[in-house]
Amino acid sequence: MEPKEISQAVISRLPRYFRYLGELKDEGVERISSQELSTLMKVTASQIRQDFNNFGGFGQQGYGYNVQYLYSEIGKLLGLDKTHHLIIIGAGNLGQALANYINFERRGFIFEGIFDQNATLHGKKIRDMEVQPMENLERFVKENDIDIAVLTIPKGGAVKVAEKLVQYGIKAIWNFAHVDLNVPEGIQVENVHLSESLMKLSYNLRES
Ligand code: NAI
Repeated sequence: MEPKEISQAVISRLPRYFRYLGELKDEGVERISSQELSTLMKVTASQIRQDFNNFGGFGQQGYGYNVQYLYSEIGKLLGLDKTHHLIIIGAGNLGQALANYINFERRGFIFEGIFDQNATLHGKKIRDMEVQPMENLERFVKENDIDIAVLTIPKGGAVKVAEKLVQYGIKAIWNFAHVDLNVPEGIQVENVHLSESLMKLSYNLRES
């Protein structure tokens, strides 16, 4: 089935469904009703049914959802049936922490290289991968079919570096720099700002 015009709100919920279904699958659960999934995930059963209806339902009347099937279909929707090759720009605290987080590879995100402008870091090994100078970036991206770049550098250089990455053929940027990137249409950017999440927590704390 070909999904059409799915809202960002629905898309943003898919990774959570995927995570829960992955856990159920690992526990050997073969089928689950929307009611059971609702109790587990603390969202309404009607929300779950509505979300899945966007993609043709996935369920059978009276049977519930086949966990393995649902897991693999949502994985496909998320593009996780394909392998992605990613590099990290910025080998500081954050870049190194992400490079060391092996779990991404389970999801098909293969860590291929890490780059930094600071010469004192060049050659330093992070998860068996040497930090490379920025001068290697263009050739590396082109020769290794890199599709995702993770930006863990300060905001000052991020816009320029992003422009270069796009020129070299990068299709998607996972942006941790605190700045909005200016990229052409068709290039995907996902901004991650932990401090915004923390501010939400602080707001909710204030209200409680
Ligand atoms: P850090 O100072 O440990 O590392 C930054 C690294 O980027 C350094 O190794 C530096 O040499 C390199 N770098 C700087 N400009 C560069 C450029 N133009 N090209 C290539 N390499 C360059 O900093 P940390 O803690 O790793 O944080 C990195 C950035 O991420 C900071 O700007 C910080 O504000 C941001 N950050 C964002 C978070 C988020 O949730 N979005 C959370 C934590 C940090």
